[in-house]
Amino acid sequence: MLHEKRILLIVSGGIAAYKSLELVRRLRERGAAVRCVLTRGGSQFVTPLSLSALSGDKVYTDLFSLTDEAEMGHIQLSRDADLLVVAPATADILAKMTHGQADDLASTVLLATDKEVMVAPAMNVRMWEHAATQNNLATLLARGVHVIGPEEGDMACGEYGPGRLSEPDDIAAAVSEFFQSSSPLSGRHALVTSGPTHEPIDPVRYIANRSSGRQGHAIAAALASSGAKTTLVSGPTNLSDPPGVDVVRVESAHEMLAACEAALPADVAIFAAAVADWRVAQAAEEKLKKNSAGPPVMEMTENPDILATLAAPSNARPSLVIGFAAETEKVVAHARTKLERKSCDWILANDVSAAAGTFDGNDNTIHLVSADGVEDWPRMSKAEVANRLAARIAEALGTD
Ligand code: CTP
Repeated sequence: MLHEKRILLIVSGGIAAYKSLELVRRLRERGAAVRCVLTRGGSQFVTPLSLSALSGDKVYTDLFSLTDEAEMGHIQLSRDADLLVVAPATADILAKMTHGQADDLASTVLLATDKEVMVAPAMNVRMWEHAATQNNLATLLARGVHVIGPEEGDMACGEYGPGRLSEPDDIAAAVSEFFQSSSPLSGRHALVTSGPTHEPIDPVRYIANRSSGRQGHAIAAALASSGAKTTLVSGPTNLSDPPGVDVVRVESAHEMLAACEAALPADVAIFAAAVADWRVAQAAEEKLKKNSAGPPVMEMTENPDILATLAAPSNARPSLVIGFAAETEKVVAHARTKLERKSCDWILANDVSAAAGTFDGNDNTIHLVSADGVEDWPRMSKAEVANRLAARIAEALGTD
């Protein structure tokens, strides 16, 4: 649920700081990467060593540490995060956030950030109920800060009332909920094909191609992390399953078509697989042997076009159908023809000539061809192509 999400956890001083250790574990169990900033007060209750051991990352404590600034400027700490979580948030840090005070690393990061912030307050009940804290909280809420808790109960100071830090599980659930509700493709189903297909010649031989599956897998990962329920129908590859994606493994074009049809309905379908255009008409049931008649003559027959089949008008047609055009010359011109011939909405045209190094490489140069014209994307990594495509899909489906 939190795959690829990066949380900057700020631990401020208070007896509840010990629960931050549990929180790190809960967030990581959900797939998040957690980096911690510990205030001076916080370090009275938990050590940088325990936070570092649980987060698997360095813990940042000092605004004026030359080493920390050289390795990772304090501004970079927030740039690298998707969400800042302050847990526990003391009355003091809430006051600093309200008034823009920046006198240590935690408060400076909170003032310098343009990312969303979630606070989990924890303090004595009188401090919580004090007009100063309540006014600060009202200001922070009005600024869009997300607040979880505090809970009501027995307090370490012997009093009873609101002021207890929310349970780590509840804070982790609130973080997941935050990403879920801010995920642009939440509630959408995406279907992606990826990889090559293997077309059998006999039980041990097949016809294949050089597709690595990297682009299709990266697209499935990006769609899932944008909140879409994602089904990836993949031909044989050496890649591991992208996190949070339902993967259906197939071998041949026929199996790929059947798996895609079974995955419908979908809101968007992206066909990134390099499907073999032809298969051997009659694959041999037994292994072909060398004999005096010489090499076998194989009759080829055309495979079904999966993209064209699913893009054809029907009730089950996804509202956005996207194909790839792997070309070695006249890239955009061929893509335009393909757009019409396969009646899809967008074609992502890419140059797969040996000189471009797309098939086995990490980068891709895309031209997005649609009825509205051509968008030339700069050369970027396949992961960046995937993220940009996911954002464009969210934009297009958002106006449905
Ligand atoms: N495609 C498909 N099923 C096929 C062949 C292609 O779904 N049997 C899809 C690919 O996944 C891609 C698009 O169609 O999204 C275009 O693939 P490409 O290989 O570039 O085009 P072809 O149709 O094979 O045309 P040509 O080989 O003549 O360029």
